[in-house]
This record gives sequence, C-alpha cells and structure tokens, in this order.
Amino acid sequence: MASDSRDVLARIDTEKERYLEELKDYIRIPSISTDPDYKQEVLRAGDFLVGKMREAGLQAERIDTAGHPLVYAEWLGAPGKPTVLFYGHYDVQPVDPIELWRNPPFEPTVEGDKLVARGATDDKGQSYAHLKAVAAMLAERGSLPVNVKFLVEGEEEAGGQAIEEYVRQDGGRRLAADCVVISDSSLFAPGQPALVYGLKGLCYMEIKVTGPNRDLHSGTFGGAVWNPLNALCHIVDRLRDAETGKILIPGFYDDVRPLEAWEREEFAKLPWDEAAYRSELGVPRLFGEEGYTTRERTWARPTCDVNGIFGGYMGKGAKTVLPSWGGAKVSMRLVPDQDPKKIASLFTDYVHAVAPEGVTVEVTNLHGADPVVVEVKGPIVDAALDAMEEIWGARPVRIREGGSIPIVSTFASVLKCPVLLLGFGLNDDGLHSPNEKFNISHFYNGIRSVARMLDRLSSL
Ligand code: BES
Ligand code: MN
Ligand code: MN
Repeated sequence: MASDSRDVLARIDTEKERYLEELKDYIRIPSISTDPDYKQEVLRAGDFLVGKMREAGLQAERIDTAGHPLVYAEWLGAPGKPTVLFYGHYDVQPVDPIELWRNPPFEPTVEGDKLVARGATDDKGQSYAHLKAVAAMLAERGSLPVNVKFLVEGEEEAGGQAIEEYVRQDGGRRLAADCVVISDSSLFAPGQPALVYGLKGLCYMEIKVTGPNRDLHSGTFGGAVWNPLNALCHIVDRLRDAETGKILIPGFYDDVRPLEAWEREEFAKLPWDEAAYRSELGVPRLFGEEGYTTRERTWARPTCDVNGIFGGYMGKGAKTVLPSWGGAKVSMRLVPDQDPKKIASLFTDYVHAVAPEGVTVEVTNLHGADPVVVEVKGPIVDAALDAMEEIWGARPVRIREGGSIPIVSTFASVLKCPVLLLGFGLNDDGLHSPNEKFNISHFYNGIRSVARMLDRLSSL
C-alpha cells in the first residue's frame, strides 16, 4: 500500500542520531545574514546544504544573487504524481546579547531533549527535517513517492530580496508545484500542532533627528535649542495612543482587513491562560489595541513598536550633555491588505508633520514584507494534515501568527497553490533570543511527518 511508510519510519529510527550530528555541523556555520562580516559563512552554509542535497540523491545547485545565494534542488522522478516545493532558510539571526548564552551560540549543545544553538529552530533544524525525510526515502527505496523541489534562501532574516526576485522571474515554471511546505513556525502548544494560515507583514523604519552641529554643554546651551533626543521622544510618543493602543498615523488602518467572525470564534475557542502568559513574560499587565483580545492583537491586528532608540550619553554615571543627534528604529507589523510601501510613506509624512521645528529629521525605510492570509483547503491540505495528526497525535488547529516570512505572499500569488505552514517548533524555543533551542524529538517527528506526508500525497 502506497500510504504505508513503515520502511522509511524504521530507517529514520535507525539513522536519526546521524541526522542530528549532521544538523549540528550545519548549525556550527554562523550564517548571520544581516551582518556583512559573515558573508562567507552564509555562503558556506549554502554550500553545506547543496552538498547534503547531492548526497541524498537530489539535483542541487547554488544560485548566486545580488545578495546571499539561494539553494535549489529537485527530484522529479514521479511523473503524474504531485510536486511538493519545500521552502526554508539557512541564514540565522545575530547572537547578541552574547553574554546571556549558556554556551557558545554556534556550538550546538544537547540539554536533555533540547538542542541549544542559534538557528536550532529558526530555521536550520526545522527545514533540515524536510531534507532528511527525503534523504531517508531515497536511501530506503531509491525513489520518492512524489516529486520534490527545494528552495532554501540565505537572507530571510534580512528581508528576502533575492528570493522575491527569483520567484517573480520564474513565474511558476521551474518552481511549479501542487503545494508549498514550510516549517518555520511553531506548534500551537506541546502535543497540538498548528497550520498557520496568516502571517503579518512588516514595515521597518529608522528615524534620525539632528540638532546642533556638536554635543553641547547642557547648562550653557540647555533651553536655547530643541534637544534632538527630546524631539525624537516627542515624535515617538505621537505614534501610538497610550490609552487605546491605537496607532495615530493618519490612514494607517485604511486597508486593514477586519478579522472575520469565524476567526474570532476559532481564536476564542483555543485555550488561553492570561495569568500564565503574563507570568511567562514577567509583566504585571498586558497592553494592546482596545477592542481586541491578546491573541487577536498578536495574530491579526497591526502594531507599531520602537525596536531601539539611541544617541546621547549612554556611558556610566552622569554627563551633562545636550546631544547633537538621536535615532530610533521602528517596526510596524502589518496585516492584509496593508501595503508596506504605502505605510512607509504615511509614516514618513506623519513623522515630518509632528516633528518640532528646529531639528532636522530623516526617515529611512529599512525593509518590508507583505502580510498574507493563505487559502488552505482541498485534498492536498487534508493529506498533509492527516500526516501531521498521525505523527503528532492531534490534528493541526488553524491559527495566524505575528511573525513574517516575506516570500510567503509571493509564493501564494505566483505559484497559485496551497502554502502550508506546518511548523515543528515550540513557542518557548526562543527564536532570535539567547539560548534558542529545538526539541530533538521535534526534529525527529518533523522528519517522520514529512515522510508520511509524501506517502499520503502519492496516493491521492
Ligand atoms: N520564522 C520567523 C517568522 C515566524 C516566527 C513565523 C514565528 C511564525 C512564527 C522568521 O525567520 C522571522 O524571524 N522573520 C522575520 C522577518 C523579517 C526580518 C523580515 C520577522 O518576523 O521578524
Ligand atoms: Mn524563520
Ligand atoms: Mn527568524
């Protein structure tokens, strides 16, 4: 029977420790895409992947781009069968604050069931599970039950420019598929997998406020000019209403697609423990946009946050100085149908409009990503969900997520097939944080569920 995977599951069981060792080697390559100093390491991670894909029996290549390379691989030996396109990213976030790591971030450390390292869950561990499932099948049977393609990028954490261009130019020719499978998110809760059908977009801005041509004595000159940091705080304070949590940029909400009634109902049905959430985050109370639950706020309502603010005297003790300049990094997470470019221009106009006279304000758009909600129904989706249910013990619940994966909206519009975001992580994996981890059992179950998925898709 085509949907029997006992052979492959047995092989995965005997080889899984080796897969884990390979994953560790992959993780040891510090492929930080946002830091130009690591360009060679990003390249090395891409080449590592190409090597492992070839070893598995795929036709693989590195595609050089204006940014970091893409990795593409395929096995198309099952004519008439569906084609699955796997997406992942081999780049990782920077490691700071480095002093909070229990071990060096690129020396993967096993702590019980946890593999602790940068990239363990986001996204090396999760996407390597795709490859190992395919490798196990090819090793066991010499063939795959369906056709597979892999497109793995090296700059997702840096905004994903190159892949965007590549997928648009391809137009669904080489990349044509019956579904895209992405594992770069988390289960809803331990034992409860999730199918993520919506991701937020992003508009990332930087504000620079310049005042006097040099730092000034704050006594001699204080009172005479606008202090650029005071001006910056004035601007930042006007971005959001402190009572209602509403974003005050005119036109900001114009294109926001309201949450649908069924979504609000579904979200409300999922278990929610506010006290536990608060205490996990260490905050005395939650705060967000008036009229929405926390889950609605984080999954489906746009936000505006200062990510960093800098300038002036930041050393120890006191220094009486009136700084010459100050800056802030501000990100807005967007929801359908907001357009990051339009939001960037509304933001820029508003910042200039509320800036006091007497300082110079520069606003820069650092990068953006489109928000997305994907259609997820049909037999292919059901087969994938069946596979997840079988391995993880529960049928995935449908949720949205506050994170962004820039290429997802482009996949949906260009490839016109279901995009399945089936993550293997956990919400406490600490992606982008110190001591990021991936549960080793989740790595193995990820491999198993992909193997089952491919067998199930074959017998559709
Ligand atoms: N894997 C995350 C996105 C994510 C996080 C999806 C949690 C679902 C749940 C991804 O690697 C990421 O961090 N994306 C960046 C994109 C940005 C740099 C354009 C993000 O969301 O900040
Ligand atoms: Mn990721
Ligand atoms: Mn990430």
